[in-house]
Amino acid sequence: MKDIRNIVILTGAGVSAESGIDTFRSEGGLWEQHRVEDVATPEAFMRDPDLVLRFYDMRREAIQTKQPNAAHHALARLDAEWPGDLLIVTQNVDDLHERAGARRVLHMHGEHLLAWCTACDVRSLWVGALLQRPACPACGEKALRPDVVWFGEMPYRMEEIYEALRKADLFVSIGTSGAVYPAAGFVRQARQLGVATLELNLGPSQGTLWFEEARHGPATELVPAWVDQVLAAIGEG
Ligand code: APR
Repeated sequence: MKDIRNIVILTGAGVSAESGIDTFRSEGGLWEQHRVEDVATPEAFMRDPDLVLRFYDMRREAIQTKQPNAAHHALARLDAEWPGDLLIVTQNVDDLHERAGARRVLHMHGEHLLAWCTACDVRSLWVGALLQRPACPACGEKALRPDVVWFGEMPYRMEEIYEALRKADLFVSIGTSGAVYPAAGFVRQARQLGVATLELNLGPSQGTLWFEEARHGPATELVPAWVDQVLAAIGEG
C-alpha cells in the first residue's frame, strides 16, 4: 500500500445492505419485487408515471429511515484523513455516504433526494411525495421526476470518473454485483491502466476474476479493516 496516492472507490447496493436498504439482485432484492421495465425506464415513466413515482416515493421513505453503517463511516474517515486524491463513485442513490460525513462522493446514478424538472431541467432538493405532482421550485410546472438514472439513460459525470481512474493508483470495488455497465467495466479500465484493483464484496461478483485481490464478507467488517490497513500504510511513508 506504500506507493498509493490516488484512490477511486466504487460502491454499490451492498455497502448499504447492512443499513437495511434492499439491494437489487440479492435474495428478495428490489428487482425481485418489481420488474425493472415497470419502474426504472423512461418508457415506464411515460406509460405509467404514477406507478414509477409511487415506487420512488416508497424508496425515498425507506432510505430516510435508515442510518449509515460501519462501512459508510470507515469510508468517511478515509475521505477525511487521506492526503491524496480520493473519489467515492457510488451507484447508490441513497445519501448514507454523505450522512456518514464523506465529502468526495459522486453519484453516477443520481440521488434520491433530488427531483428533476422535465420542463426546465433544474434539479432541486426534494421532500414530500412526487406522486402528488408538486410544482417545480424553479419554474412552477408540475413536471418533476426522480433525479435517478434509469436503464437506457446515461450515467452522470462519466468524464470525471474516467479522469479519476486515469490518475488512480488503486481501484476498490465495494458491494456491487458487477452486473450493470459502465460501472462493471471500471475494473478492466483500471487493469489496462496498470491500477491496483481490490474487490470487497459479500461473495464473488460477476467481475471478480478481473481483480488482483478479492476479499469476501460483510462490508461492515471488510471496509473498516481495509481502511485501517490503508491509513496505517501512510505512516510507513
Ligand atoms: N456486504 C458486502 N456486499 C454485500 C452485502 C454486504 N452486507 N450484501 C450484499 N452484498 C453484495 C451482493 O453480493 C452483490 O454482489 O452487494 C452486491 C449488490 O448487487 P446488486 O444488488 O446488483 O446492486 P448493484 O451492484 O449496486 O447494482 C448496480 O443496478 O439496478 C441497477 O441502478 C441500479 O445502481 C444499481 C445497479
